[in-house]
Amino acid sequence: MENIKRYLIRGGKPLKGEVRVSGAKNASLPAISATLLAKGLYKLKNVPKVRDVFVMLNILEYLGAKWAFDKETLKIDTSTISKTEIPYELAHQMRASILFLGALAGGLGEGRVPLPGGCAIGKRPVDFHLKGLSLLGAEVSLDHGDLVIKAKKLRGTTIILDFPSVTTTENLLMASVLSEGETIIKNAAKEPEVVFLGEMLKKMGAEIKGLGEDTIYVKGKKKLKPVEMEVIPDRIEAGTFIVIPGLFEEGEIIVKNIPFHYLETPLQKLTEIGLRVERIDKEVLKVKKKGSLKNTQIFTSPFPGFPTDLQPQFAVLLTQAQGISVINETLFENRFLYVFELNRMGAEIKVENRTAIIKGPTPLEGSPVRATDLRAGAALVLAGLCAKNTTTVYNVELIERGYENLIEKLKNLGAEIVLETGG
Ligand code: EPZ
Repeated sequence: MENIKRYLIRGGKPLKGEVRVSGAKNASLPAISATLLAKGLYKLKNVPKVRDVFVMLNILEYLGAKWAFDKETLKIDTSTISKTEIPYELAHQMRASILFLGALAGGLGEGRVPLPGGCAIGKRPVDFHLKGLSLLGAEVSLDHGDLVIKAKKLRGTTIILDFPSVTTTENLLMASVLSEGETIIKNAAKEPEVVFLGEMLKKMGAEIKGLGEDTIYVKGKKKLKPVEMEVIPDRIEAGTFIVIPGLFEEGEIIVKNIPFHYLETPLQKLTEIGLRVERIDKEVLKVKKKGSLKNTQIFTSPFPGFPTDLQPQFAVLLTQAQGISVINETLFENRFLYVFELNRMGAEIKVENRTAIIKGPTPLEGSPVRATDLRAGAALVLAGLCAKNTTTVYNVELIERGYENLIEKLKNLGAEIVLETGG
């Protein structure tokens, strides 16, 4: 029997306490690929030790870089980079490997990156990336499943994105900072992780204006330099924890180290649902259950809208709310796979295309369930904490991709959860 990892959760016990948010996975990944834009020694602080980060670092190492964690500081030395081709074995594990396409084009003028496949939540095409890079003068072709890019001379231009795609904006920032002339990216993504990458590039010497706005202006430079950066906190991890108090009669949690404006929309949603949200310090939130939960409607949308990465977690919360709630998933075409696992626990959720209709409140009963993607897995853990008796969550490797020390953090809140491996 293969070595199966699973979480055993004994639910129903109200949780209370404090949690400190780790660094953002989705800020760390582009930061790691951006080290290809200038050879030398980088120091990145607050990088979460999660699977996706190690996949990116293994790819960087394959290209010739050296890296090591020195306590909380990730040191990366790209002075020995010697390759520009990424093997399928390393890249297929993670779609975010597409971030090397922009960095290789911008930093080394060429590259070969496996075309990412789809994943559980959707087809996840990369046409926006390819269109933007071609507009900058890169030649991109498909060869035996790999994207081959030739970008010896990139020239600034105006690029209008069909959709404010996060990694497309990040790839175009990395490809344009060393190009000739000015690049204008319209309909750019405004996520804090995109702004973080832009700030890192500016510290490296890039000239960028409009980060966090609809239009970003980049003036190409000749050379950049390595830097030290502190990675921003993970708003999706924080958004996963702020749901917890709503899962019990009496629930209360203090979330530390999260800038309020990163979570404004989810926090407003919590208030609408009937939880008490308090800002008790500059970057400290308290969320408390006070009385029954009310149903609501959620539309996912790009930042500063409601993040798609939090809709599975809020779906679990809404199974405990009075009445019919609706979640409209506008970004991905298949992000409700977790619903069928929740229904096995007693939830009453119907899915019609990109809409989930949740009837509440429904008591949840512990059951064996399996994670279908990273955030779905997190949602099933929340459901296990809420359900009576024992829930076994399988496929926890998916959860470990993006949550650092999850079991320890939940145990500190009083959760009964253990990792079990073996046949
Ligand atoms: C980023 O993915 C995140 N990943 C995702 O988080 C997140 O769900 C997503 O942004 C939306 O916020 C990282 O940052 C590593 P998009 P990304 O390009 O950049 C379509 C997690 O849980 N699209 O903004 O891939 C696409 O199909 C992950 O950490 C195209 O059609 O998302 C989707 O419908 C899951 N063509 C929409 O745009 C393209 O070329 C938004 O995708 C690119 C995207």
